Amino acid sequence: MPLEARNIGFRYSGGPWVLREVDIVVNSGEVVGLTGPSGCGKTTLGRIMAGYELPCRGNVMLDGRPLPVGGYNPVQMVFQHPEKAVNTRWKMKDTISEGWNPDDGILKSLGIEREWLNRWPNELSGGELQRFCVARALGPKTRFLVADEMTTMLDAITQAQIWRVVLDVARRRNLGVLVISHEQSLIKRLCGKVVALG
Ligand SMILES: Nc1ncnc2c1ncn2[C@@H]1O[C@H](COP(=O)(O)OP(=O)(O)OP(=O)(O)O)[C@@H](O)[C@H]1O
Ligand SMILES: [Mg+2]
Repeated sequence: MPLEARNIGFRYSGGPWVLREVDIVVNSGEVVGLTGPSGCGKTTLGRIMAGYELPCRGNVMLDGRPLPVGGYNPVQMVFQHPEKAVNTRWKMKDTISEGWNPDDGILKSLGIEREWLNRWPNELSGGELQRFCVARALGPKTRFLVADEMTTMLDAITQAQIWRVVLDVARRRNLGVLVISHEQSLIKRLCGKVVALG
């Protein structure tokens, strides 16, 4: 069952067209790359695919129907800047349990220390915070993951470790993954299909 964006056109109010007639389909169990130069609209398209933004033209369908509104979003996004994606007034244990309560197994496999759960977001490094955002996005009701430069701030070894975990979960649960990145090598390594913007 696919997540599909058809004929997407988008402009921020008063601005130029950022996306024109973009088509992208992510099937369940598929890992699709989205690439292109900085400013070409990758994040914008990711936000539209996850329902954070409505397109000016075209539409996004999940299993042939419009994205559901309210409740747990089956299309989860991991954002480029994790510090903007968490509530600074919540400790990590509250952040993580917002969508679901991850078991120790997934926390451990993502390299999240138990002790970090009692910390505030500003007491973690960007990479440590991003691991929480990845864990939060992998709730049991997640069907598709939009990973926007998810591991860009991490060193190569940690990047590989996190992708191994995410792709393993995706394979076991038949999740579709949209990998947004300007890193061609990462896209080539992970994705069966690639859409280039710009
Ligand atoms: N909230 C906004 N209001 C107005 N313009 C915006 C807004 N967000 C992004 N833009 C503009 O839309 C264009 C696309 O931005 P977007 O963040 O989608 O690009 P990107 O491909 O993700 O870039 P990068 O590789 O640097 O992350 C850019 O020209 C940007 O300046
Ligand atoms: Mg971006």
